[in-house]
Parts: sequence; structure tokens; C-alpha cells
Amino acid sequence: MKEKILVTGGTGYIGSHTVVELINSGFEVVIADNLANSSEEVLNGIEQITGVRPQFAKIDCASREELCSFMSDYPDIRCAIHFAAYKAVGESVEKPLEYYRNNLDSLINVIDILRKRENSVIVFSSSCTVYGDPAKEDLPVSEDAPIKETPSPYGKTKQMSEQIIKDSVYAYDNLSAVSLRYFNPVGAHPSALIGELPLGVPQNLMPVITQCAAGVRPSMKVFGTDYNTRDGSCIRDYIYVCDLAKAHVAALGRMMNPLIKSDRFEVFNIGTGKGLSVLEIIGIFEKVTGIKVPHEITGRREGDAEQLWADPRKSNELLGWSASTPVEDVVASAWRWEKRIRNIS
Ligand code: WQD
Repeated sequence: MKEKILVTGGTGYIGSHTVVELINSGFEVVIADNLANSSEEVLNGIEQITGVRPQFAKIDCASREELCSFMSDYPDIRCAIHFAAYKAVGESVEKPLEYYRNNLDSLINVIDILRKRENSVIVFSSSCTVYGDPAKEDLPVSEDAPIKETPSPYGKTKQMSEQIIKDSVYAYDNLSAVSLRYFNPVGAHPSALIGELPLGVPQNLMPVITQCAAGVRPSMKVFGTDYNTRDGSCIRDYIYVCDLAKAHVAALGRMMNPLIKSDRFEVFNIGTGKGLSVLEIIGIFEKVTGIKVPHEITGRREGDAEQLWADPRKSNELLGWSASTPVEDVVASAWRWEKRIRNIS
């Protein structure tokens, strides 16, 4: 009998790649997603890749009634990977209440259902943004680095969510949880059948680069080259979305295995452990594709951390996981995806 896993937000960018890895690892997947930032079309891509079409329901996880009714049809689900959340940093500054209500209510509803089920496990989609702008001496960032004031309500919802989970695990004996703090997810499945849907105007670096290369936008801005880094532009830890997806399967396996003595609430940094600057990423893209990316240097973007990359040793050792894909292959996967959705041969 295959273990059935609830994946909220499972038609989203990271959710869909994780569903593929769950199915490939022998799990049965049930997706609840309100399609606010994705499309049901994604199910076709998942099915083409895995040969399996996961069960899906259009559910607003922030609605207690909707989620409870949905989950009453699945009394045998005890594990969830919770992605469902709004995630645009800039938008969260303009719409804080929508972000707090949606991101926190969704999580609370998932916890409140699973805590009543035996041996329940939640894998939570967190973010390196909880570390704010770490001091140089705290780089590379380990899980015990200080949690610092983060400028965006989006980042604050991640910090609050981790606290809510920690308090819930302490209060409810049935529940265990793990929080995965992603660094910068990039790229697309090698098949180019799933990837990051270009809904709205992307703010993240990689889709901006690939849209420039595809001619969707005439040029891009490099937000500041006056930082205290090797080339003046910001440094980040760009993690391949398929490697990130595999980390979720590893984390689930750890928490579900009765033979592993894990803490009931654990936190892991999910990154490569290598930092790359904005200009370096642009250079790698141009080298891999042979396409120049028109860009202009402008002022800094408010709220940007200067440098942020992971110390992934805890994930490597306790999850038996590491980010293995070379950055050139990751960049090439992002370009394949952009070409496919723009019908560029
Ligand atoms: C990376 C670097 C920009 C666009 C955010 C969230 C994080 C996670 C990933 C959800 C920065 C520079 C970007 C552009 C640029 N989100 N840049 N020109 O801000 O590190 O992280 O997205 O999981 O939680 O905080 O990612 O890709 O927006 O920016 O120069 O047009 O690229 O200034 O230095 P960020 P990003």
C-alpha cells in the first residue's frame, strides 16, 4: 500500500517538481491547490514525466471549511508537504494583510487537521529570508545563525510559520515537523515539461535573465554593483529546483522512519553551499547559451541582502542529501523551459 502524501500548492513551481520526485519515490500524491499562482495544466506535465496523474482538487487551504471537508475524504493521509503560500517579496510589502491571512491561515489549517492524526508529519516550505541580511561572520549560513528582522511581510510569514509549527509540535504529541529553508530555487525539470510559470512580471533573477534572452523584455537591470563583494553585485546560493525537490523526499523519509531518532521539530538549510554573484550568473548563462543578456547597472533594490549562501552540512549529513547538479546544467534547464513556453526552437 503506497503512503499517500498531501501536497498543498502542488501545482506551483517547487510543489510540482516535488510531486514528480514523490511519485518517482513510490508515494501516492494528493494535491490541494487554489491555482492562485499556477495552472491545472501542470498536472499534464507531471503525468507526462512520471506516467502518473496525481489526484487534484482546487482547494483554498486558507479556508478551514474547504480544507477540512477535503481532508475528511482522506482519513488515511498523515503526512503533508505544505507549499501553499503567496511568495512575492515585493507584493507582500504592498499587501501585508493578504500575505498574513493567506500564509498563516493555510498553515494553521493544515496543522489543525494533521495534529489529530497518529504519527503525522508536516514538511514546511520555508526560506533563507528568515536570516535577513546576515553579517559576514555568519556566512556561510548555518541553521543556528541568528533569525533577524526581515524587511518583507513575506519573510515575516516564514519566521512566524516556523514558530507556529514549533509551538504546535510541542503541544500536540501526534505531530512532527521539519522546516526546509530554501536558498534561491532556480531552473526547471530536464524535460522542460514543468518549470516556473511566468505569471505576472517575475522579480526573481533567473526568469528575468531567460526572458531577456528570449526577447520578452529588451534588457534587465542589475540592482547594484557597489556591494562589498568580489564583483560588487549581490551573492546568492542558487539551488536547482530538482535537487531542492529531492530534499523534500529525504526530509519526509527521515521524519517517517521510526528507526531514525530525529527531533520532533527540525530545521534544514537547503542550498549548494556555494555563492554566486548576479554578474557571475549572467556570465554563466551567456557562456552556456551563447546569448548575450542585455543589462544595465542601476541602484540597489530595497531590502536586498548583500550576501547569502548556505552551510548545507546538516542537510548533507542528516538527510543524506546534497545539491549535485552543476550550475551550467541548471542554467541550461532554465533556458530550455523558457524556449519551450515561448515556442523558440
Ligand atoms: C537575487 C539577486 C537581486 C532581479 C527571493 C526571496 C527568497 C526566495 C527567492 C521564495 C538579488 C538580483 C534580481 C533583477 C537583479 N523566494 N536581481 N535584477 O531576492 O535573493 O530571494 O527570491 O522562496 O525568499 O527573498 O531572489 O532572484 O529576486 O534576486 O539584479 O531583475 O538578483 O538584486 O541580488 P532574492 P531574486
